[in-house]
Amino acid sequence: MNKNIVCIGAGYIGGPTMAVIAKMNPDRKVYVVDINADRINAWNSEDFNLPIYEPGLVDVVKEVRGKNLFFSTDIESAVKECDIIFVGVNTPTKMFGRGAGRASDLQYWEATAREIKKFATTDKIVIEKSTLPVRTAAAMAAILNDSTTCQFTVLSNPEFLAEGTAINDLIDPDRVLIGGPQDAAGKIAIEEAVAIYAAWVPREKILTTNVWSAELTKLAANAFLAQRVSSINAIAGLCEATGADVDEVAKVIGADSRIGPKFLKAGPGFGGSCFKKDVLNLVYLCESFGLQAAADYWDQVIKMNDFQQERIVSRLFTEMFNTLANKKITLFGFAFKADTGDTRETPSGKVARLLVDEHVRLSITDPKALANARNDLSDLSGIDYVEDEYKAAEDADAIVVMTDWRHYPTLDWKRIFEVMRKPALVFDARNCLDAAMLKDIGFKVLNIGK
Ligand code: UDX
Ligand code: UDX
Repeated sequence: MNKNIVCIGAGYIGGPTMAVIAKMNPDRKVYVVDINADRINAWNSEDFNLPIYEPGLVDVVKEVRGKNLFFSTDIESAVKECDIIFVGVNTPTKMFGRGAGRASDLQYWEATAREIKKFATTDKIVIEKSTLPVRTAAAMAAILNDSTTCQFTVLSNPEFLAEGTAINDLIDPDRVLIGGPQDAAGKIAIEEAVAIYAAWVPREKILTTNVWSAELTKLAANAFLAQRVSSINAIAGLCEATGADVDEVAKVIGADSRIGPKFLKAGPGFGGSCFKKDVLNLVYLCESFGLQAAADYWDQVIKMNDFQQERIVSRLFTEMFNTLANKKITLFGFAFKADTGDTRETPSGKVARLLVDEHVRLSITDPKALANARNDLSDLSGIDYVEDEYKAAEDADAIVVMTDWRHYPTLDWKRIFEVMRKPALVFDARNCLDAAMLKDIGFKVLNIGK
């Protein structure tokens, strides 16, 4: 009989991943538990007002919730009933003590491991879903297996889904990675985990490795993606200085099949919960193993990203006659990318703070992320949060497009021009609008890398 599954942590990773696992494994019961009762209530809400926005997620949850997918705060019963335990609790960058600002804060992970141990009455396979530093699995196995009669086998199954495309990424992944101990018990546990995904993923796409390779691969994969974004953004500055066009350059670079076209879009820099945290983690790992040049190398990916946001503000400053005080600037988009309401590490946050430092009258519009924006900037006063783009643009001296929301190019830009102060500036930091059309209307236009 197929084993039942519980995931601890009902966040951006746990929720969508378990919904798809439940859909594809109708013969297994799948539980998602969380200490946050509000979050669980939202997952269970009658009108499917789920705690996270993700295209296609509601349909999957509608299909399986109450059938074989259950959300609850009862960690104890779920751990007792399930032999396979995924852990998807958050692992933010540690803000205190040793490794502050770089290492992962593992306190939630460890607390969760101790809870699993407290409630378990039979052998368990514990699967890391959270991104963790290399060798965490070994530490967790040591905690779990210390003076107990149950046997715990710890696997690493990092998640590669990107927000905004999570459901597609889960249903049709490039690869699934499962790392585990290479002894007999480990191999059996790996096969149990493989079976969950083999219900819909072709077997050759399910890659198995030792546990440390899996942990390191997740950090390395995110670092490589972040590095591509920083690389193209580094070229963007040079394009602005020389008259080259970064979109043209990226297109031709990406046509080389050795390089490929993805993750070469210049913009305001990367955001999201993972890239910065994971690169910093890699920096910390390199430092701890005495590999200082490697640490500096990866650290530069983050520095380049910060520089990109600082550059947006300096260019506005220069373009707006070297003073921003009392001017109104409207940020179009606060989410770290389109199709999500997530604002963790969003470039808009940094730009908003730099603008407020310059005494800008700031207005922010976003179709999905305004509640998070309010929360993130709650220490700053005087910012307007306006859902309607036309209202948000009223009397503005400049608009800065920070998120590439799909509908932005289709807005009535003539109408926006009419309600703004003149000269009216659009800084399209995502290069997603038709610059020629904007210039025809009368806007001054700035782009990244042009
Ligand atoms: C995930 C991964 O865990 C993280 O390592 C990765 O790098 C990014 O994605 P995510 O799903 O985005 O995190 O985190 P979040 O949305 O914060 O969800 C974590 C959930 O775990 C929260 O709902 C929180 O309440 C819950 N939690 C946390 C517990 O149930 N128990 C705890 O002890 C701590
Ligand atoms: C990322 C990884 O893609 C995913 O595999 C991993 O599991 C978690 O981290 P996510 O953070 O959801 O996913 O978003 P992603 O689509 O990777 O975008 C990250 C950031 O890079 C966004 O701010 C995005 O706007 C930016 N980006 C991406 C660019 O600026 N240019 C690009 O070409 C691509």
